Amino acid sequence: EAGSRIFSLIQPTGAVHLGNYLGALKNWKDILKNVPEGTECLFGTADLHSLTQTPKAETLHENRYGAIAAIIASGVDPKKCTLFHQSSVPEHAELYWIFTCITSIGALNRMTQWKLKLLVSDASDIFDEKVMGQTKAGVLQYPVLQAADILIYNATHVPVGEDQSQHLELTRSIAQTFNHTYGKYFTLPRTILTPTKKILALRNPAKKMSKSDADQSSSIYLNDDAATIARKFKKAVTDSIQGPVTFDPETRPGVANIVSIISAIQDKSVEETVSDLSWVQNHKQLKDYVTEVVVEEFKDKSDLYNRLINDKAYIDEICSNGKEQAREIASKNLLEVKQLVGL
Ligand code: ADP
Ligand code: NA
Repeated sequence: EAGSRIFSLIQPTGAVHLGNYLGALKNWKDILKNVPEGTECLFGTADLHSLTQTPKAETLHENRYGAIAAIIASGVDPKKCTLFHQSSVPEHAELYWIFTCITSIGALNRMTQWKLKLLVSDASDIFDEKVMGQTKAGVLQYPVLQAADILIYNATHVPVGEDQSQHLELTRSIAQTFNHTYGKYFTLPRTILTPTKKILALRNPAKKMSKSDADQSSSIYLNDDAATIARKFKKAVTDSIQGPVTFDPETRPGVANIVSIISAIQDKSVEETVSDLSWVQNHKQLKDYVTEVVVEEFKDKSDLYNRLINDKAYIDEICSNGKEQAREIASKNLLEVKQLVGL
């Protein structure tokens, strides 16, 4: 809709992979292409959020460049959106504190995402003595900062993966609590669920493809060359079932994952993709075909990524412009919020 404001960030936590591309960046690109005149789009890195993993300073610094290069290389045109680092707009962190003071620990305890990131697999409750001792406050507060990211711009739409929809509900709840407590100010943002299925680790389709996976042959990276992509698909875990391709995530997760990848790249439903693949007789043909599709999709993106990552001055300039545009909105909104609060 006209007058919409679309907002989303990605963590600069490592090399951007096919899951990030199909689950987020391709979607951002498609949104930018299709939005009506007058829609504002803000995209960038959640560099403050990535501090919950305590990265080395040099690593984080590099990954911030890598994330911006990957966003642009994926087709997100910096002339058509605001592209910036979260930490360059201090208003996020200020609003975060205000929100921290109206959010209950119980509500954060009910979030499931942080539990999945903990080393303790049996984490069910922050009030558990063992869990409390191992959990950084930032890990628990993660979704409060996310709420501040979104609401500081009064964003109307937030494109995210399924795993983030609980955090978006919390964002709306925080907005309502604020509106109720201090006066109506925030728009309740809508979730735009990414159409893509979760992309799974090639070597272990029980897990999602992730930047934090130590086994690099489980992920296809945006800057992998054709030979590397072919090698990784060759080593992908599938199954010993003969016969035509089917989409059965429960019984054939490896094959279903390949179908998901092809359907997402070709903007088709999995049913249509399965039907397109009726010529496939064996897993080798399927792997050769998905290799071809991914190589073609990533070829230009990989070239552009490699050029951008060597032009840090250009990336700095993009992010500096983005920061100015973002701060213009954020500082005005924060001023109004502070007045409502009495600051
Ligand atoms: P990662 O889990 O690899 O560290 P992030 O948490 O930074 O990635 O996620 C960035 C975006 O990419 C999010 O919108 C997330 O939903 C999406 N994403 C991450 N991994 C996958 C995946 N395996 N399949 C689909 N989308 C994914
Ligand atoms: Na993640």
